[in-house]
Amino acid sequence: MRLSVAIDGPAGAGKSTIAKIVAKRYNLMYINTGSMYRAVTYKALEKDIPPENIEALCNLIETMEMHFENDELYLNDVNINDQLTVPNISKNVSAYASIKEVRTRLVKLQRDMSKKYDVIMDGRDIGTVVLKDASFKFFLTASPEERATRRYEELKAKGLEVDYSSILKDIIQRDYLDSNREVDPLTKADDALEVDTTGINIDQVVNKICEYINNGLELSMR
Ligand code: C5P
Repeated sequence: MRLSVAIDGPAGAGKSTIAKIVAKRYNLMYINTGSMYRAVTYKALEKDIPPENIEALCNLIETMEMHFENDELYLNDVNINDQLTVPNISKNVSAYASIKEVRTRLVKLQRDMSKKYDVIMDGRDIGTVVLKDASFKFFLTASPEERATRRYEELKAKGLEVDYSSILKDIIQRDYLDSNREVDPLTKADDALEVDTTGINIDQVVNKICEYINNGLELSMR
């Protein structure tokens, strides 16, 4: 059976940083599902397709071949990661991600990847929808202020001009939209281990997660 690890949680909880490290430890392919929703948003904005035009969005997704290499998303063989984290995409992505038809298509692509590779996948609905039978599930949280600070530092390090209070506002709004949408809202799976990362460092979170995985793997070999 393939090994699969699901990591869910709100924006800025540290999912991708942690997932990349855990991926290396267990030789898993890291699939950042948020970047797939961001890629759809990026293309839809570029082509002036509003979230209401579901038919055009579905046609658009048909033209988008997405795969991951070295933790990064390639869209039709082009690495577009730098374009995906800009504030304009963050502001608009929840509207596109709330559309059932968009989700059905991306969930199928994500499941196909998990059939081909051992994966660690992060997002909002991985443990509850995409990989319901994942070998291990985690739900990462942190206070909105701490998450906003992390995003602020991350964007600043990329040389972008950013404003802390608008990042915090965006994070709170995205939490609300992602948790209250009708289709596949952000929720913790009953069988996920919740890890509050407020005030603890990356190594401590990674250790917690790896300890949990190691225990599970050991038990399964007995
Ligand atoms: O993880 P990230 O913050 O990049 O995700 C961007 C957005 O994509 C989220 O705010 C959410 O609206 C959407 N998303 C989702 N389901 C996922 C991953 C991301 O709805 N599995």
